[in-house]
Amino acid sequence: MERTSITIEGGNQLTGDIEVSGAKNAVLPILASTIMLDGETTLLNIPPIGDINSMVRMLNSLNIRTEYRIDESIHILNEKKIRHIAPYELVTAMRASFFVAGPLLAKTGFAKVPLPGGCSIGLRPVDIHIQGFKKLGVKINFEHGFVEFSAFDLKGNVVDLPFPSVGATENIMMAACLAKGETVINNAAREPEIVDLANFLIKAGAIIEGHGTSSIHVQGVQSLQGVKDYYVIPDRIEIGTLLIAGGITGGSVCIKNVEKSYLAPITDALSKAGLVISYENNNVRCSANGGIKSVDITTEPHPGFPTDMQAQMMTLLTVASGKSIIKETIFENRFMHVHELVRMGANIKIDGQIAIVSESSLSGAEVKITDLRAGAALVLAGLIAEGHTIVYGLHHLNRGYYNLMEKLTLLGAKIVT
Ligand code: EPZ
Repeated sequence: MERTSITIEGGNQLTGDIEVSGAKNAVLPILASTIMLDGETTLLNIPPIGDINSMVRMLNSLNIRTEYRIDESIHILNEKKIRHIAPYELVTAMRASFFVAGPLLAKTGFAKVPLPGGCSIGLRPVDIHIQGFKKLGVKINFEHGFVEFSAFDLKGNVVDLPFPSVGATENIMMAACLAKGETVINNAAREPEIVDLANFLIKAGAIIEGHGTSSIHVQGVQSLQGVKDYYVIPDRIEIGTLLIAGGITGGSVCIKNVEKSYLAPITDALSKAGLVISYENNNVRCSANGGIKSVDITTEPHPGFPTDMQAQMMTLLTVASGKSIIKETIFENRFMHVHELVRMGANIKIDGQIAIVSESSLSGAEVKITDLRAGAALVLAGLIAEGHTIVYGLHHLNRGYYNLMEKLTLLGAKIVT
């Protein structure tokens, strides 16, 4: 029975070495893209977390045999006729299921996907995805809460994104792989998870250039083949969360086997906050070095500071000397963790998309998680709050973190169920 709450005893230093799991936000589009791949694919380093389970269920509902294996790998066998209607209950369970639209279109010429709902952090429309598909010659019809896409011959085109949307970049890039001719995606998102998706598709036979830059070129091909043993990149948000766990508790945490090139937006901010960041081979270490300094943070598309680290950074800055200004520019409602942090004694004022964080001392309380990254922020707060913190709503956390409590306990946290 999965536990729904945990109790954290504050005041213990976290020190030690640990590895993180594969990046959830790389695995989700990569799984969706296997709709386009003929034959067998195996993905390695895949954490058995809620959102990935949802995508596995989605693929099976589309008649693609997908199974988790006990060695944290996923085996996909795509050899039967694919269904092209994504079930409502699966798309509402996880909005990233909308990533199946591009691959279904490319593979079958048709896709019927429920309009994903919003979530606690924002409305999360998919207009940029839809505008991009239209440029590839897709006919769109909205009815009964579903979007019907049809395109019996996807044609490459120039797609100018109004905003570097991660999901839209991925969905359009996937559809373009099997379109006729060249597609250029301008103002494309540059997140490392997009690079990982492109690298996976290239191994499957796709012709993609410019991934990781704001201009991605895709040459359509006839077909794509399954990929054997693809090792997904480590999760940079889990890395950032655990580095803060070390720094905020006055300890020293080393994450092994990371990709230094895409961590800079996170580790640069931690250095500015007075933590000591060191890279040893392909490991990264964060050590406390006296007090935490106030830092002004603005969330931006990669290579800016990631919005998925905003909540965790805010917890760190509650113990910084002086005032920090945090500006959230990506989502319209991503300060849900503030209310609970204030209940723990944090001095935080909200003014629209800006949070003003002043030095506070946190005391343990009963708190409730509202969304995945807010949950991580509350757990970090529990590690340093005086006394015990009881965190409810763990299911939100388990959507995106694998064995987070076990990892924190290994590093010295005192967590009781
Ligand atoms: C991805 O979401 C991630 N999810 C999010 O991580 C992450 O926060 C986000 O990128 C930004 O980095 C996955 O990769 C599964 P966007 P996505 O499209 O693709 C607006 C987590 O915690 N927008 O870049 O949905 C949108 O409303 C999750 O792991 C439109 O207006 O993000 C938002 O304000 C949370 N129209 C902004 O753009 C569109 O068609 C960024 O969205 C698409 C997006």
